[in-house]
Amino acid sequence: MDLLQEIENYIQEAKDLSVSSPEEVEQFRVRFLGKKGIIPALFGRFREVPPEQKREVGQSINTLKNLVQERVTELKSALRSTSSGHSYPDLTLPGDPWLTGSRHPISTVRNEIISIFSRIGFTVSEGPEIEDDQHVFSKLNFPPDHPARDMQDTFFIEKESAADSRNDVLLRTHTSSVQVRVMEKQQPPIRTISPGRVFRNEAISARAHCIFHQIEGLYIDTDVSFAQLKQTLFYFAREFFGPKVNTRFRPSFFPFTEPSAEMDVTCQICGGKGCNVCKYTGWLEILGCGMVDPNVLEYNGIDNEKYTGFAFGMGIERIAMLKYQVNDLRLYFENDLRFLEQFATDLW
Ligand code: DAH
Repeated sequence: MDLLQEIENYIQEAKDLSVSSPEEVEQFRVRFLGKKGIIPALFGRFREVPPEQKREVGQSINTLKNLVQERVTELKSALRSTSSGHSYPDLTLPGDPWLTGSRHPISTVRNEIISIFSRIGFTVSEGPEIEDDQHVFSKLNFPPDHPARDMQDTFFIEKESAADSRNDVLLRTHTSSVQVRVMEKQQPPIRTISPGRVFRNEAISARAHCIFHQIEGLYIDTDVSFAQLKQTLFYFAREFFGPKVNTRFRPSFFPFTEPSAEMDVTCQICGGKGCNVCKYTGWLEILGCGMVDPNVLEYNGIDNEKYTGFAFGMGIERIAMLKYQVNDLRLYFENDLRFLEQFATDLW
């Protein structure tokens, strides 16, 4: 066969080539461009070509060589883009994980506390976060100049009220305000807990925050006794911290209860042996409580000759910190997924 025709056939072959794997491209490259390949062989035979044909044959071989090189690059890149596309998924790759959310630990603890008290007949009630002096202080028996008003650094929203130049729109500093809201609307028997957000004008640190959560409890009926208060809170402590927990009551003071107490539980970190968290006492304070002051009943339209009651209030963050042994309050507010993910099993 005439050499020119032979080269023309190779050109056609290179043009028509289609491949399905990188190995086939390599075979093609070696067949044409390899040391013993077709193209070096053609250049070898070039010497025998008569002078008057040299120009034409030379051009033809070069065309073939360039074409083969182009096709090799082109076929390689075509294969690369199909393998990263959808035609050839790599079935050995690990699957994409399902990212499920989780309840915030504060919600989990709040729900658990609600469920413990609802088992003994407490309902849930809520009140507004933006409050007034009456509901947060006055009707809870804080006298106008009582030092207890200073105990809580309050966020006031309106500097001065027209009525009496005392600040009258404020963010509630405790959920005890919901006691007042409930008593306004309802006569005894009252047995309710009130979870919610509270606000205090405090510098943010590992142990204090300007926003946190509390749960308030209120029980008013005929013949409610301090013994019932103790037993109710003892039941709560055992349900929440487990049957081995011990409790103790220490005398305290709140304007809205008389007598008042604080309840401690066995230190959850050292089990009562003494450590730096419980300051080597073996006890941790978890809530304030007491018998509703008869003045509070009277201010809120409840007959204090007929009824008595008890109340208690606890901080949810504080209890969550003990339960999960988290020692920095700020972690609960930062929405850092690395922190929150650790509570994923508590979803339901
Ligand atoms: N309101 C109190 C506080 O924020 C907590 C508290 C103490 C609530 C005693 C009560 C109670 O109902 O009886 O520190």
